[in-house]
Amino acid sequence: DQKPAFTLFICVALIQIGDCKGATVADIVFIVDESTSIGNKNFQLVRSFLSSIVSGLEVGLTNVRVGIATYNDTTTARAYLNTFHDKEEILQFIKNLPYNRGGTKTGAALDFARKEIFIEQKGRRKGVQQVAVVITDGESQDDVTDQAKLLRRTGVTVFAVGIQNASKPELDMMASHPPERHVFIVKNFTNLRPMQQLIRKMLCRNIIDSAIRPETDISDVKEGCTSFVFLLWKDEADFFFLIDDSGSIDNEDFYDMKKFINEFLHTFRIGPQYIRMGLAKYADLPSLEFDLTTHTDAKSIEEAVEKVTHEGGGTMTGAALSFMKAYFNRSMVSRGHRVPEYLIVITDGKSADNVKTPAEELRAQGATIYAVGVKNASSTELLQIAGDPKRTVFVGNFDALKSINKGIITDICTSDGKENELR
Ligand SMILES: *[C@@H]1O[C@H](CO)[C@@H](O)[C@H](O)[C@H]1NC(C)=O
Ligand SMILES: *[C@@H]1O[C@H](CO)[C@@H](O)[C@H](O)[C@H]1NC(C)=O
Ligand SMILES: *[C@@H]1O[C@H](CO)[C@@H](O)[C@H](O)[C@H]1NC(C)=O
Ligand SMILES: *[C@@H]1O[C@H](CO)[C@@H](O)[C@H](O)[C@H]1NC(C)=O
Ligand SMILES: *[C@@H]1O[C@H](CO)[C@@H](O)[C@H](O)[C@H]1NC(C)=O
Repeated sequence: DQKPAFTLFICVALIQIGDCKGATVADIVFIVDESTSIGNKNFQLVRSFLSSIVSGLEVGLTNVRVGIATYNDTTTARAYLNTFHDKEEILQFIKNLPYNRGGTKTGAALDFARKEIFIEQKGRRKGVQQVAVVITDGESQDDVTDQAKLLRRTGVTVFAVGIQNASKPELDMMASHPPERHVFIVKNFTNLRPMQQLIRKMLCRNIIDSAIRPETDISDVKEGCTSFVFLLWKDEADFFFLIDDSGSIDNEDFYDMKKFINEFLHTFRIGPQYIRMGLAKYADLPSLEFDLTTHTDAKSIEEAVEKVTHEGGGTMTGAALSFMKAYFNRSMVSRGHRVPEYLIVITDGKSADNVKTPAEELRAQGATIYAVGVKNASSTELLQIAGDPKRTVFVGNFDALKSINKGIITDICTSDGKENELR
């Protein structure tokens, strides 16, 4: 009952795991605090930490590119993404990474990274996973929220490593969602060492997520899974998206949500005999944007999705689920036979009405529901909607909708399973 969407994701992910060590491709920039509070001795531990992380990566111009910036009140680019050509060079450089003391303007450092480092002229690659790892030991002297958001919006996944006096709420605001996967806190610099493995694991997993993104080229899929995927490719199914249009979502977030739907859409073969897609949105009231039979090709669905406007209002998820009942169990009528029917609900907050009963009724009608929670979504409620934790997905920020995570792909990157031990 997992077919087809998420099975495909898992399949592609499994193939990537085999390659996780050998063929990872990513652009990773370390943004390193060099403020006075760190001190020479601890900065040496930061250097060791960086060395160890970089040692574990497949560094090279065609694999993982590594950039480094250090910051105090100002930010200095120490290495761009196209500065180093191999691991030895960069490890040598890290050994002597300069330490200059000063303040802690993390917001400015994020701004700098976006404008000066994560750019094509400096080696950023298109279509390659972009990752920033911020390492800081204290609270920032400037605002990080907006700058972090801007950076994430350019497609960069932000990890935050906080040491000693770093502020957890600040790191949570800065990093990509969910914090459990992107924020790491250590009490002191000595404790950085045991953190290495965990962070490597998370980076690796992140790269896997990026492989799951819909732009994944089907030709990447190798022997073994091929026939399986091909089968899914030909599969028939009906998908409905039900998206939250409430006032807590800003325009850019709404745009990200539409982008997510369109990327999802391009994963499939769309057509009356293959995959059909419908879309409804809701705030206080639900409304249908287009039905399963309105559009017959991917292009027109994409255009229709782009035209959806964001109006705002409350969050009546229960009423919206009840509204969807009329749109399920209709493949018999419009196709002449039954096909799997999926509802993907995306919401960013708690519903003002009850979701449990309408969701149960919808599932009883034969719909398989995935609940995608963003930001303040309640996990209890996601579970009530989907009926199974495996079908609840927390995608964090809207700009991070690309990651498909928890419960679907668990601990497949490495097998030690000690993820939370150090937190
Ligand atoms: C870190 O916090 C501790 C206790 O909260 C404080 O005593 C110490 O001065 C702080 N260190 C720095 C470098 O701010
Ligand atoms: C901050 O770092 C830069 C470059 O590393 C250095 O030139 C500058 O003196 C430092 N600022 C302070 C206040 O120490
Ligand atoms: C760092 O913290 C650990 C416990 O979390 C402690 O055992 C160790 O002594 C601390 N190191 C320093 C240098 O404070
Ligand atoms: C929808 O399909 C399911 C599964 O086949 C069936 O049990 C249910 O009665 C149908 N509901 C309606 C309203 O047709
Ligand atoms: C999320 O919840 C927090 C705390 O409950 C609140 O301060 C914040 O405004 C909420 N964010 C949104 C977007 O609703």
